[in-house]
Amino acid sequence: MIHTSENLPAILGGTPTVTLDQKEANRWPLLTEEDEQAVLDILRDGRLSIHPVTRELEKDYAQFSGMKYTLAHNNGTAALLAAFFALDLKPGDEILVPSATFWASVLPMLWVGAVPIFCESEPDRLGLDPEDLERKITGRTRAIVVVHLWGLPSKMTEIYEVAKKYNLKIIEDASHTHGAMWRDRPCGSLGDISVFSLQGDKLAPAGEGGIFLCRDFAYYERATMLGDITRIIELETQARRFAATSFGIKTRIAPMSAALARIQLKRLTEHNRKRNDSLIYLSEKLEPLGFHTFLPPSHIKRVYFEYIIRFNPDQIPLPISVLLRSLQAEGCQAFLPRYPLVHQQPFFTEGHFKSILRLPEDVPVPHYAPDALQATLQGNRNLIKLPSFPNAEKELLDQYVCAFERVIRHADDIMNSPAALENSGDTVLPGERS
Ligand SMILES: Cc1ncc(COP(=O)(O)O)c(C=O)c1O
Repeated sequence: MIHTSENLPAILGGTPTVTLDQKEANRWPLLTEEDEQAVLDILRDGRLSIHPVTRELEKDYAQFSGMKYTLAHNNGTAALLAAFFALDLKPGDEILVPSATFWASVLPMLWVGAVPIFCESEPDRLGLDPEDLERKITGRTRAIVVVHLWGLPSKMTEIYEVAKKYNLKIIEDASHTHGAMWRDRPCGSLGDISVFSLQGDKLAPAGEGGIFLCRDFAYYERATMLGDITRIIELETQARRFAATSFGIKTRIAPMSAALARIQLKRLTEHNRKRNDSLIYLSEKLEPLGFHTFLPPSHIKRVYFEYIIRFNPDQIPLPISVLLRSLQAEGCQAFLPRYPLVHQQPFFTEGHFKSILRLPEDVPVPHYAPDALQATLQGNRNLIKLPSFPNAEKELLDQYVCAFERVIRHADDIMNSPAALENSGDTVLPGERS
């Protein structure tokens, strides 16, 4: 083939394939006058700290999930802390967790003396590997944190079996799965306690916010005691005596955030449909090119908090750093996924976690080795993050497909080009962090 700069991939001097504007296509959150009005109403009302809108938001989430009790928090991390506190654990009790998640699924438990035991994630849906869960159980294991990563519900049938067999509680971190369904049940209702984050990137954002959900009043009562004095007064139980102090922290949501969260929840189905239409379309084009796109089995309705795909190095003979730089040169916003594995972080490997955990000397704590969880490391190796296109037109998606096709068609040329391979060993920057 004669190569002109027209048909050369952009990394070898051709013109980039993706030319359409991506700012609007990737705008998030999608806000309208209704959102503005809802926030303005609170501002004008003047009750900026305690306002009935918080209760309304909690009712919305109870209805949305089917969970009986809901408590709005100032962020998902605080709602997770409340979930760990609600379990009323003993110091040194162990909780099984994935390492492939955002740190907040794990770290708050340290403040109630619980020890995270990291487990492998499975490669099909990137959730906890049920077989590894069972291997990690000890006499101290009390609970499992399930995270439906990126919008993909975890393998709940098997996880429920392990939980039942060993009498473990499930904390469901549904922060990535507003609107996803597992066997006709909504994510956010699959745990003994479930949690949503409403942080600004999430599918139903509030700016900052979190929701704690459960069916058991005892959990709700403890969560309320921990951090919401206004709600402690409303409890019709002995717990009311803590109304003057709480258990020491303050975690209620700001009404302006709650107001925004209500509108965004109302719009969730419409917003999810737009992402799903775009990303299923893109996935069906990328699968034949050598990418696994995590299209779900039929008993699952997934959502797309983020669009993560895995490339097959047997089909695409490029190192991931070269593949990403080639796609970036074409104008694609292609990066590594943004969460580093939690168990490899200095907070754990250098032992800093002990200063939060503060267990008595005689209670053993694990040594967290960075080379543990080899299956998770392997499964994470070839993952790529693309935009989730919350607001994209089909033309832009088609440009992405052309960019992928072009890079793959020229994989050998790229591999034979010293310029393209320069610095190929360098790390490609992960996407921006939240
Ligand atoms: C899986 C997961 N859990 C928990 C959180 C914490 O939520 P927040 O940022 O609202 O504290 C986040 C993200 O921010 C998350 O991605």
